[in-house]
Amino acid sequence: MFLGYLMIWKVLSYPRYRLTSLPTPLERATRLSKELGVELLIKRDDVMELCLGGNKVRKLEFIIADALKKGCDVLITRGATHSNHVRLTAAAAKKAGLDVYAVITPPGSLATQGNILLDRLLDVKLVPISRAEEADEAMEKLAEKLKSAGRRPYVIPAGGASELGVLGYALGALEILQQSLSLGVKPNYIVHATGTGATQAGLTLGLKLLGASDVKVLGISNGRKASEVTKRLVDLFNSTAEMLGVGVKASESDFTVYDEYSFGGYGVITSEVVNTIKYVARTEGVLLDPVYTAKAMYGLIDLVQRGVIKKESSVVFIHTGGSPIVFQYASEVEKYL
Ligand SMILES: Cc1ncc(COP(=O)(O)O)c(C=O)c1O
Repeated sequence: MFLGYLMIWKVLSYPRYRLTSLPTPLERATRLSKELGVELLIKRDDVMELCLGGNKVRKLEFIIADALKKGCDVLITRGATHSNHVRLTAAAAKKAGLDVYAVITPPGSLATQGNILLDRLLDVKLVPISRAEEADEAMEKLAEKLKSAGRRPYVIPAGGASELGVLGYALGALEILQQSLSLGVKPNYIVHATGTGATQAGLTLGLKLLGASDVKVLGISNGRKASEVTKRLVDLFNSTAEMLGVGVKASESDFTVYDEYSFGGYGVITSEVVNTIKYVARTEGVLLDPVYTAKAMYGLIDLVQRGVIKKESSVVFIHTGGSPIVFQYASEVEKYL
């Protein structure tokens, strides 16, 4: 572990622009634990000061610091209509005194609700396009246009999935281990919603650097195929490890991703999803969202019931945020109330 602390020191040596107080709470889910037969703790990354919080904040602390260091004055990013990443990039940009543009893609509607409402309150310049496959190109074109107008743009990939973004959850892994230890718990599993991959790659890298790879990270995909997410995870892990110069390397077998809990794809809301939101709200008073965290919790429960997650084991579920999406999809959610 001592060597691990030395390795993680490399992560701490990167500049961070502080956006929230850390650590976030790690709370025991006592009633859910009893029902499921595992020791379940919820890492409340939905509880942060920055604009309703979420997993993007940890990544943005490193990304914003880099943008400021490079003298940039405007951020460009992308996301679906319900993107938490766009909302939090906007909030972080405003806190740092920067302008922000976002290329917005389907699914979902552009009605002024949920994250779109918050984006507009935060003064994001929204650039809607109809095909998600063209969003990276649209960001590059926008950056060129802003450059020729004398601005200094900084492009952030979807979900903050860059090497600097990965650092956020490498430190998150340290935080989870320290908090678990102080509660007298040794986690066997960490379960969370996975998408663009920076959260899972970061946790896996942090645990590896800390010599704690026996803690299994289980990513529940919110829509992409497991093979596609895994490929991204390998690339992000290895390029971040290379940037840090820590001499570790991952392959596909280092990652576990489940794609059977996305219920028909990204942003598709079914009765199983809404029932999971109701179940967790009514058992623990914790609000999940229908695009990411409810699907991840459904997966966790199913994996316990199938015996993949062993009974009596200790499980940390990371609540990665997303509460505005409940309001954005109120009419879909209402169908299954
Ligand atoms: C609430 C929530 N959970 C999980 C994820 C997935 O995280 P990552 O993109 O780091 O895989 C996202 C990303 O958009 C999110 O907003």
